[in-house]
Amino acid sequence: MRLLFASSEIFPLVKTGGLADVAGALPAALAAEGLDVRLLMPAYRSLPGRGDCPEIARLGDPFGRGDTIIRESRLPGTDIPLWLVDNPALFDRDGSLYQDDSGRDWPDNDIRFGLLGWAAARLSQVNSPLGWVPDILHLHDWQTALAAPYLRAWGGQIPGIVFTIHNMAYQGCFAPDLVPRLGLPWSFYTMDGFEYWSQISYLKAGLVYADRLTTVSPTYAREIQSPAFGFGLDGVLANRAADLSGILNGADYSVWDPSIDPHLPCRYDAASVSEGKAANKARLQQDMGLPERPDAPLFAAVTRLSDQKGIDLLLSVMPSVIAQGAQFALLGSGERWLEDAFTAMARSCPETVAVHLGYSEEFAHRLQAAADFVLMPSRFEPCGLTQIYAMRYGTLPVVQRTGGLADTVVDATYDAMLAGTATGLVFEPPSSGALQWCIERAIGLYRNRAQMERIQSTGMRQDFGWDRAARQYIALYDGLRPGRRHGTGGEAR
Ligand code: ADP
Ligand code: GLC
Repeated sequence: MRLLFASSEIFPLVKTGGLADVAGALPAALAAEGLDVRLLMPAYRSLPGRGDCPEIARLGDPFGRGDTIIRESRLPGTDIPLWLVDNPALFDRDGSLYQDDSGRDWPDNDIRFGLLGWAAARLSQVNSPLGWVPDILHLHDWQTALAAPYLRAWGGQIPGIVFTIHNMAYQGCFAPDLVPRLGLPWSFYTMDGFEYWSQISYLKAGLVYADRLTTVSPTYAREIQSPAFGFGLDGVLANRAADLSGILNGADYSVWDPSIDPHLPCRYDAASVSEGKAANKARLQQDMGLPERPDAPLFAAVTRLSDQKGIDLLLSVMPSVIAQGAQFALLGSGERWLEDAFTAMARSCPETVAVHLGYSEEFAHRLQAAADFVLMPSRFEPCGLTQIYAMRYGTLPVVQRTGGLADTVVDATYDAMLAGTATGLVFEPPSSGALQWCIERAIGLYRNRAQMERIQSTGMRQDFGWDRAARQYIALYDGLRPGRRHGTGGEAR
């Protein structure tokens, strides 16, 4: 089976969040199951050595922004071909993937990711200039979603199209004058097509024109069909319920495992978790300027600072955390007011709160290893990978019961403790009161070494490897091979 897998970010090359982790690991798991996989991503300036990658096709200039070239590289550590969409006017610039240095979305994101979708569609046509035609095109989030309406509009024989939703909050909505500029038909600009409140929504285009929809946990698949989680598209999703499924993300244990993690000052495994975590904690306390207190429970957060993540709730319970003798370490970046508020808190409580603003892969690993608890008070969480990584590091996730958090963490209730199935602490609803109470439970648990160690070791034994998810995706792809398509998607659209 030939699979073209398109994503706007891929670990370890470029990453802003969990999407990159998925796009860096799932293709390798699919290739290990025997699929012929090719990856597609923009040739961003930050990509090491992109200019040296051989040119393998010229796609022309569909939007008047200069020629688009496809270059070939490999996904690091594998022999999976990585095709880079090279258009210097759109992708060769400083700043982050989606925003300029001052944190504003690039004003031409419509064309940048319009081109990514267009290129994915062009390379999926029977007459692709590469002479390799996929059976399945797998798209991720709004940045690649336009490939689906392009293929429908162009017609002819097309691959099965799978669209995976990693987050309903990011929709890619733009003014409708874009429709002709993108070369898409006005007939698609309707309520049943990609029109959304008088704009073109790239996310909706994926939801409407793909054959199958998936999201990254079973609970989130249910949640997004309701107004509270659907960001205005719950009706569209409910209409497509028969084609929508939740496949839980995995963890790449070649990257996230404390016994082989090159970022850690001290590596450890299940047999040496107590000493290993103590050593990493001491080093982190030193490096972050916190007093070296082995007995203080260390709470950490590694996160984008956004409304989704409930970080404001964390801010409001911080005085109580401090009063109970705990320490808190944050690695994150995002909304300015949250960055400022945590910086101010660290300044006024240097004994208990330490903040590292920005993005650091190394620090993310070190925090996972050093912390006793990782806090994820998310209001919604499509899957969440941080809590899955935390378990492998013997760090207890403290999570709000939503989306993938609900699907991956077993609360330390009395029954779960007796049964030996507990892996963390779960609370609801997403309120500061519920969070505060849960943190108090966590601190109580921390003082009970035997129970704490039992939960740690159960967490470390969990296996969220990607092979399970890969097999579920393959079953889905299989149902979409020519002559095997059912359901409401596909040719009917
Ligand atoms: P999301 O994709 O919504 O941000 P996930 O939990 O799925 O949430 O994935 C987050 C990923 O991004 C994890 O790999 C985590 O380690 C990483 N991450 C988040 N914030 C930072 C940061 N400031 N520095 C380094 N890595 C980060
Ligand atoms: C999104 C979600 C996160 C998920 C990740 C990878 O960024 O916010 O919950 O784990 O995508 O699927």
